[in-house]
Amino acid sequence: MIEFHKVCFTYPGCEKNHNRVLHNIDIRFEKGKFYSLIGSNGSGKSTLARLINGLIHPFEGKIYIDGLEVLPQNFIEIRQKVGYIFQNPENQIVSTIVENEVAFALENLGIPYDEMHRKVTEILEFVELNDMRKRPPHNLSGGQKQRLAIASVVVMEPDYIIFDEPTSMLDYNGRREVINSIKKLHKAGKTIILISHDAEEIVLADEIIILHEGEIVAKKRPIDFLKDVDLRNNINFQQIPDHLKFAIKYNINTLNKEEIIDIMQKNILPTTGILTL
Ligand SMILES: Nc1ncnc2c1ncn2[C@@H]1O[C@H](COP(=O)(O)OP(=O)(O)O)[C@@H](O)[C@H]1O
Ligand SMILES: [Mg+2]
Repeated sequence: MIEFHKVCFTYPGCEKNHNRVLHNIDIRFEKGKFYSLIGSNGSGKSTLARLINGLIHPFEGKIYIDGLEVLPQNFIEIRQKVGYIFQNPENQIVSTIVENEVAFALENLGIPYDEMHRKVTEILEFVELNDMRKRPPHNLSGGQKQRLAIASVVVMEPDYIIFDEPTSMLDYNGRREVINSIKKLHKAGKTIILISHDAEEIVLADEIIILHEGEIVAKKRPIDFLKDVDLRNNINFQQIPDHLKFAIKYNINTLNKEEIIDIMQKNILPTTGILTL
């Protein structure tokens, strides 16, 4: 479990203006669950994520991961527990060959060659990149690059994986592939924290955590978040695709796109008014 106990954070230089980026964050992320972290630009999402893996440290309050406090002296253990995927995979990829990128992290652990090779293959198959293993990363598409970044984090076997707007720079196919990898990781038991502005992505979560001006203003199940028009207006979250509007309007018991479309096609329901939800 990841626990925040009354955490406040300010970037250096902002203290004088009492310009706190995060105020009084008190939250738990349970192991094995899928969370979405949402909020408008500048609300503090990336800052909260960076605090979890110890890239920065609280100004007040404490953060624990499986009981271990996030402190500079615990840095190596924390990095083993928490993986971080950035918005732009270009900032994460360092190798000139796909398989080396994944092996790189393991080399530092002194793992025997055979085991390393087996592990690299297993992870590349998981993200569906094994047939690209000899290619240079710059030949990959955006979605493939992001999956390579995911592979090089997952190979370290972290229990918690934070995705900081991982699809915002990708085209439709790239998004679908990356979201598929995230779903598979959740199925495999990983705890997922997905920062996103995309309604279709955030409804995959067990729980949506809403940040606004540095504070957690709500925690909601996806269906309850979608129905809460006032909350969505407050945080300027208005882009809801038609199939989700339909699901809310007709109280359909799923937010899965294929299932909703199937129901839409089987039932001739009046569609007027859906777009005004
Ligand atoms: N390295 C930094 N130094 C100073 N201020 C920063 C830094 N990074 C972010 N901020 C400020 O902290 C606030 C929250 O930023 P961030 O956590 O990146 O928000 P989000 O990810 O929700 O867009 C913003 O006001 C931003 O300008
Ligand atoms: Mg951010």
